[in-house]
Amino acid sequence: MTLIEARNLPAHVGIIMDGNGRWAQLRGSPRCEGHREGSASVRRVVRAARRIGLRALTLYAFSEQNWARPEEEVDALMELLREFLLSERDELLDNRIRLNAVGNLGRLPAVVRAVLDPLRDESGTAPEMTLTLALSYGGREEIADAAKELAREVASGRMRADEVTPEALRKHMPSLEVGDPDLVIRTGGERRISNFLLFGLAYAELHFSDTLWPDFEAEDLYKAIASYQARERRFGLISAQVAPPITGIRLAG
Ligand code: FPP
Repeated sequence: MTLIEARNLPAHVGIIMDGNGRWAQLRGSPRCEGHREGSASVRRVVRAARRIGLRALTLYAFSEQNWARPEEEVDALMELLREFLLSERDELLDNRIRLNAVGNLGRLPAVVRAVLDPLRDESGTAPEMTLTLALSYGGREEIADAAKELAREVASGRMRADEVTPEALRKHMPSLEVGDPDLVIRTGGERRISNFLLFGLAYAELHFSDTLWPDFEAEDLYKAIASYQARERRFGLISAQVAPPITGIRLAG
C-alpha cells in the first residue's frame, strides 16, 4: 500500500489516459472494448481523487486530433462519454464534484451536449473537486484561441500590445481556470505530452506509468502522487530558496 501525505497534495492533477486500444488488442477484442474498460477506470480514479481530497482533476478524454480516427471508434467514444455522464450524474452531484469540460465543445454531437451542458450547470456550485474533461481539446489550439482573444482586444483599443503577457494569455485559457496542473500522469508507456495543457505544463511534475489505462487502479494514482511528493519543485529557483531552512534544532548532550 502506498502512503501519501495529506499535506502537500497536488491541487490539480491532469491525466493522459493512454493504452485503451492496446489493452483491447492484447485480448483480441475490438479497440472499443478497451475504451469501455477505460471508462470504468475513469470512474475508479475520479472516486479515488475525491476520496483523498484533490481539488481538481483534468482528464484528456478526446483530443482535437482524435476526430480523425475511424468513424466507428469516434462514435463509440462519444456514446461512452454520454453513458458516463448519464450514469455518474447522481454520484458527481452527491459528492459535490463539479463537472466541467474544455476544448472545442461545438464539435461534440448534440446528444453529448444534451447531457454535458445541464450537468455543467447543475454541478457548478460549491464544489469539493472540479472534474474537467478535455474534449475535442488541443493545447496549441487553446493557446491560439487565447492569442486571438488578445489580438481582438488590442485591435479594438481595449488593450495595448505591451500588455500581452503570459498572465493575460492564461486568463483566456479555460483549462487553467482551476490553476496550472501540479502533476500530469500519462499511462500506457509512451513518454510524450500529445498536445495536452501545453501552456499550463510549464512547471508541472510529470509521471509516466507503463500501466495501460484500463488497468490503472486507485493505487496507481496514489503511487504517482507519492512520487510527486518526493520531489522538490524549484520553479526556476535554487534549492536553498524553496526548501524551508532547518533551524532551532537543539542537539542533546
Ligand atoms: C487513448 O488510448 C484514449 C483515448 C483516445 C480515449 C480515452 C477515453 C476513455 C478513457 C473512455 C471514455 C472517457 C470518459 C471520460 C468516460 P488509445 O486508444 O490511443 O490507446 P492505444 O495507444 O493503446 O491505441
